[in-house]
Amino acid sequence: MIRASAPGKLILFGEHAVVHGQPAIAVPLHAISATIEVEAAPAGTGITIALPDVQAMLSAGNNEAQADNALTYTAQLVLQKLAVNPPDLRLMLHSTIPMGAGFGSGAAVSTALARALSSALGQPLDNPTLNELVYEVEKIHHGTPSGIDNTVIVYEQPVFFIRGQAITTFRITKPFHLLVGRVDYATPTHVTVGDVRKLHEQQPQSVGQIFATIGEIARQARRAIETGEIATLGPLMNENQALLRELTVSDTLLDNLCEVAMQAGAWGAKLSGGGRGGNFIVLVPEMTALWQPIQHALLQAGAVEVFFTTIGETH
Ligand code: PMV
Repeated sequence: MIRASAPGKLILFGEHAVVHGQPAIAVPLHAISATIEVEAAPAGTGITIALPDVQAMLSAGNNEAQADNALTYTAQLVLQKLAVNPPDLRLMLHSTIPMGAGFGSGAAVSTALARALSSALGQPLDNPTLNELVYEVEKIHHGTPSGIDNTVIVYEQPVFFIRGQAITTFRITKPFHLLVGRVDYATPTHVTVGDVRKLHEQQPQSVGQIFATIGEIARQARRAIETGEIATLGPLMNENQALLRELTVSDTLLDNLCEVAMQAGAWGAKLSGGGRGGNFIVLVPEMTALWQPIQHALLQAGAVEVFFTTIGETH
């Protein structure tokens, strides 16, 4: 049986400003992943994509790419790319990545599907081709995606991402520890991205300055990660969070959770991803005994799920 997986992702610095040409930093999140398993199916059935609770069908004669369902669209793009007719295959999706929470669920599922299907057809796609294909699918979810999600998920590397530029990865000299949490609501990324765009149109000068400052924070954060000066990432996260608030993409609960984390002893905290719900990250000190009180305080303050992850550990 053929099987392919793709991890989730976390944006550490630079979301939103990245849509407007500034750098952002993202890392793969191996603790959660999407997997596709491929099995032979009866002749004439075409490709069936089985989800835990929905059945999406691709009919055997149809290889016109249609942007209505991200999964069938991914499969159709693969068939188009490889110039083959739909084979008789059953693709089963298993994912531990919460959907719509800013962990890159859409990009991970598409990546796993395109990898598994192209391998099953005996022509596995290389990463640059896969990245382009998943970017096309991302447009369904995001409208005008910067491309950061598909890039970090396809390459499974930390990325220092600038829209339209060659992919730059970087070294994490010293692993660091995050608490990753989420709240029980989310706002579609295209909504917050659209609102930030409107704000920029209304106040080009001041919002342009916010983007530039976020870009500078991302550059400083990269240097800190490369030199292993982890504690300096904390204030950079807090500054980035304050600027995201100015861009109107934070909200009362996310602001409060960042506050609560700091009061409980965190080094820094910010939302991660599109904002107005979704997920947030907290940089915790090295001493593990200090982690649980922060986790507890966050859960008390309204986070629905909070887990530990180490960034930069070989896996
Ligand atoms: O996919 P999300 O919701 O984690 O956010 C993506 C990051 C944004 O910068 C807000 C949008 C983008 O396309 O880069």
